[in-house]
Formats: sequence, C-alpha cells, structure tokens
Amino acid sequence: MLAIVLQQREEMQEDMMNFGVLGSGVVAQTIGGKLVERGHSVMLGTRDAGKLADWKAKAGAEAKVGSFADAAASGEIIFNCTNGQGSLPPLKAAEEQNLNGKILVDVANPLDFSKGMPPSLTVCNTGSLAEQIQRTYPKAKVVKTLNMVTAALMVNPGLANNGDHDLFISGNDADAKAKTVELLKKELGWQRVIDLGDITTARGTEMLLPLCVHLIVAQGSPMFNFKVVK
Ligand SMILES: NC(=O)c1ccc[n+]([C@@H]2O[C@H](COP(=O)([O-])OP(=O)(O)OC[C@H]3O[C@@H](n4cnc5c(N)ncnc54)[C@H](OP(=O)(O)O)[C@@H]3O)[C@@H](O)[C@H]2O)c1
Repeated sequence: MLAIVLQQREEMQEDMMNFGVLGSGVVAQTIGGKLVERGHSVMLGTRDAGKLADWKAKAGAEAKVGSFADAAASGEIIFNCTNGQGSLPPLKAAEEQNLNGKILVDVANPLDFSKGMPPSLTVCNTGSLAEQIQRTYPKAKVVKTLNMVTAALMVNPGLANNGDHDLFISGNDADAKAKTVELLKKELGWQRVIDLGDITTARGTEMLLPLCVHLIVAQGSPMFNFKVVK
C-alpha cells in the first residue's frame, strides 16, 4: 500500500509543472487554485500581493504570489486572467522576455463597462484582444480559450450538463494548441474542445460575450455553455 502511495506521489512530482497566472480576480484564483490542487506549482501575478493573502493561505504550499513579471518568469505556461480592457499594461509589466517562446493562454474578454450594462467590446469584427496580444508579443504562443464560460465552469465543466458541451480554441501555433487541449482535458476536465483555427478566429469567441451577457441576465445564472450539434 505504502509503495503504491509513494509511486503515485513520484508520478505526480514527475508531471508537476510551473504555471504563471497573471491576475488576482476570481478567474486567476479559480484556475490557479485548481492547478495547485492538481499537483502543480502556481504563481499568481498582481500589483498588490496583499489582496491574495487569503487565496495563498487556502490554496496550499505550491500557491505563490508575486509581481506580473515574477509570475510570468516562473511559468512554463502562462494564463492571462487580467481585465480584458486593461490586459496590455499587465502584460507589459510581465516583461516580453518572460513571455517569449511560451504558451500564453488568453481567457480575457475586451469588455468595456464604462457606459454601464450591457458592456461593449473595445475591439471586434476586424480584430480581437487575442490578436492584439499576439501582435504585441510575436514570440509568445497565444492560445485563446475558456473566455466564454464562467470561472467555476472553467475548472469544473461537469457543473453544466455533466460536461456535455463544447469549448473553443484559437491560436497560430499547432503544437501550443495541442498542449493546451491536453491541459484542458487532463487538468481541468474538459471532454470536447473544438479547434477553430488561427488566432483571428478569437474574434468569434470574443464576440460571443454580448450574447453571454444577455444569457446570464435572461437565465439568472452564468452556469451554462454552448453545445454544437450537427
Ligand atoms: N469572471 C468570470 O467568470 C470570467 C469568465 C470568462 C472570462 N473572464 C475574463 O477573465 C478576465 C479576468 O476576470 P476577473 O473577473 O477574474 O478579473 P478582472 O476584475 O476582470 O481583472 C482583474 C485583474 O486585472 C488587472 N488589471 C486591471 N487593470 C489593470 C491595469 N491597468 N494594469 C494592470 N493590471 C490591471 C488587475 O491587476 P491587480 O491584481 O494588480 O489589481 C487584476 O489582476 C477578464 O478579462 C474577464 O473578461 C471572466
């Protein structure tokens, strides 16, 4: 019995990865917490480490907090979980050399709430936040996904329809997308991920947000996703 437990622990340690999660909000805390739970080391990046003291205390020994640059430098894979209207300043603070060559999973939405509800998109139709990030950091491998589901569903898709629904993914680098799909399935529990194509296809998933906002209001809950049927 002890041998089995030790072997399992060894296997977990072999699979352990370092993740950098840029952000301090519910999305960063939820994704970061789940990855720690799955046996990984995670650093959340923020301008104000103090506000993550509770998260750090609850999430476990492999939960760390640092600056945007610390988090990006420590991550083999990086998640952008910052406010979509203001994603470029935290990414600049993360420092380009810490993003170069790495998968940058972008879950942010370019929502502008400055004129109240419903929000508008700061970029759409002929561009997207994901493309802005890819253009600004050409050596990062930007992969857009998870942006159209609420934080709780991102890490527990089974909360809606037993996980029988679809996630979309966009990005220019085939290997980065394949690794992200593996991560989504193995660590976050997703069953189906549809590859939409290159990073320009993120326009479609970002432009789902106005519909998502109306659905949240109409249904009184954000706990839903899309299912593609043929
Ligand atoms: N909430 C959801 O369920 C959900 C679902 C799908 C997608 N998303 C998307 O996920 C992203 C994160 O959402 P959230 O609700 O967790 O958090 P949020 O409140 O949208 O964003 C918080 C983060 O943005 C950073 N930030 C904002 N303006 C900044 C600036 N000018 N300079 C540097 N940093 C700045 C904050 O940095 P500090 O830590 O330094 O304050 C903080 O880490 C958003 O883009 C959202 O659209 C959210």
